[in-house]
Amino acid sequence: MPRLSVTMRDGETREIEGEVGLSVMELIRDAGVDELLALCGGCCSCATCHVYVDPADVHRLPPMSVDEDELLDSSTHRSDTSRLSCQILFSDALADLRIVIAPED
Ligand code: FES
Repeated sequence: MPRLSVTMRDGETREIEGEVGLSVMELIRDAGVDELLALCGGCCSCATCHVYVDPADVHRLPPMSVDEDELLDSSTHRSDTSRLSCQILFSDALADLRIVIAPED
Protein backbone atom coordinates (compact mmCIF):
# COMPACT_ATOMS: atom_id res chain seq x y z
CA MET A 1 0.00 0.00 0.00
CA PRO A 2 1.36 3.48 -0.83
CA ARG A 3 2.21 5.66 2.11
CA LEU A 4 2.47 9.34 2.88
CA SER A 5 4.48 11.30 5.39
CA VAL A 6 2.79 13.78 7.73
CA THR A 7 4.67 16.26 9.91
CA MET A 8 2.72 17.52 12.93
CA ARG A 9 2.86 21.00 14.44
CA ASP A 10 5.35 19.78 17.07
CA GLY A 11 7.73 18.63 14.32
CA GLU A 12 7.10 14.90 14.73
CA THR A 13 6.79 13.09 11.39
CA ARG A 14 4.66 9.98 10.92
CA GLU A 15 4.34 7.64 7.98
CA ILE A 16 0.73 6.65 7.41
CA GLU A 17 -1.01 4.22 5.10
CA GLY A 18 -2.41 5.86 1.99
CA GLU A 19 -5.61 4.08 1.05
CA VAL A 20 -6.39 4.91 -2.55
CA GLY A 21 -9.74 6.65 -3.01
CA LEU A 22 -9.78 8.48 0.33
CA SER A 23 -8.85 12.12 0.72
CA VAL A 24 -5.58 13.04 2.38
CA MET A 25 -7.64 14.62 5.17
CA GLU A 26 -9.45 11.32 5.77
CA LEU A 27 -6.16 9.42 5.83
CA ILE A 28 -4.70 11.78 8.40
CA ARG A 29 -7.84 11.71 10.53
CA ASP A 30 -8.13 7.91 10.33
CA ALA A 31 -4.50 7.63 11.46
CA GLY A 32 -5.55 9.28 14.73
CA VAL A 33 -3.99 12.67 14.14
CA ASP A 34 -6.34 14.97 16.05
CA GLU A 35 -4.71 18.32 15.30
CA LEU A 36 -6.27 18.41 11.84
CA LEU A 37 -9.77 19.47 12.82
CA ALA A 38 -11.48 19.12 9.42
CA LEU A 39 -14.60 20.67 10.92
CA CYS A 40 -16.73 20.64 7.78
CA GLY A 41 -16.03 16.98 7.11
CA GLY A 42 -14.53 17.60 3.68
CA CYS A 43 -17.11 19.95 2.16
CA CYS A 44 -14.51 22.61 1.34
CA SER A 45 -16.03 25.18 3.65
CA CYS A 46 -13.83 25.45 6.77
CA ALA A 47 -10.09 25.41 5.88
CA THR A 48 -9.25 23.57 9.10
CA CYS A 49 -7.64 20.80 7.04
CA HIS A 50 -4.94 23.17 5.76
CA VAL A 51 -1.58 21.54 4.98
CA TYR A 52 1.65 22.50 3.28
CA VAL A 53 2.78 20.15 0.53
CA ASP A 54 6.50 19.57 0.14
CA PRO A 55 7.64 21.83 -2.73
CA ALA A 56 9.14 18.79 -4.49
CA ASP A 57 5.72 17.10 -4.51
CA VAL A 58 3.47 19.98 -5.55
CA HIS A 59 3.65 19.12 -9.26
CA ARG A 60 2.09 15.70 -8.55
CA LEU A 61 -1.14 17.17 -7.21
CA PRO A 62 -4.18 18.01 -9.30
CA PRO A 63 -4.81 21.76 -9.65
CA MET A 64 -6.94 23.37 -6.97
CA SER A 65 -10.48 24.52 -7.60
CA VAL A 66 -11.60 28.14 -7.37
CA ASP A 67 -13.44 27.29 -4.12
CA GLU A 68 -10.31 25.80 -2.54
CA ASP A 69 -8.23 28.77 -3.67
CA GLU A 70 -10.70 31.28 -2.20
CA LEU A 71 -10.98 29.39 1.07
CA LEU A 72 -7.21 29.24 1.44
CA ASP A 73 -7.15 33.01 1.05
CA SER A 74 -8.99 33.20 4.38
CA SER A 75 -5.98 31.68 6.15
CA THR A 76 -3.32 33.98 7.55
CA HIS A 77 -0.85 31.10 7.14
CA ARG A 78 -1.26 30.51 3.42
CA SER A 79 1.96 29.67 1.58
CA ASP A 80 2.89 28.85 -2.01
CA THR A 81 2.39 25.15 -1.30
CA SER A 82 -0.80 25.38 0.74
CA ARG A 83 -3.64 22.96 0.00
CA LEU A 84 -6.80 21.82 1.71
CA SER A 85 -6.16 18.16 2.43
CA CYS A 86 -9.84 17.24 2.02
CA GLN A 87 -9.56 18.27 -1.62
CA ILE A 88 -6.65 15.94 -2.42
CA LEU A 89 -7.84 12.50 -3.40
CA PHE A 90 -5.09 10.01 -2.63
CA SER A 91 -3.91 7.75 -5.45
CA ASP A 92 -0.92 5.60 -6.35
CA ALA A 93 0.47 8.63 -8.17
CA LEU A 94 0.78 10.36 -4.78
CA ALA A 95 2.81 7.61 -3.08
CA ASP A 96 5.37 9.03 -0.63
CA LEU A 97 3.68 12.43 -0.61
CA ARG A 98 5.12 14.64 2.13
CA ILE A 99 2.92 17.17 3.89
CA VAL A 100 3.12 19.39 6.96
CA ILE A 101 0.06 20.37 8.98
CA ALA A 102 -0.30 24.15 8.80
CA PRO A 103 -0.60 26.27 11.96
CA GLU A 104 -4.10 26.79 13.30
CA ASP A 105 -5.79 30.04 12.25
S1 FES B 1 -12.34 19.69 6.00
FE1 FES B 1 -13.26 21.63 5.80
S2 FES B 1 -12.30 22.50 4.09
FE2 FES B 1 -11.34 20.57 4.30
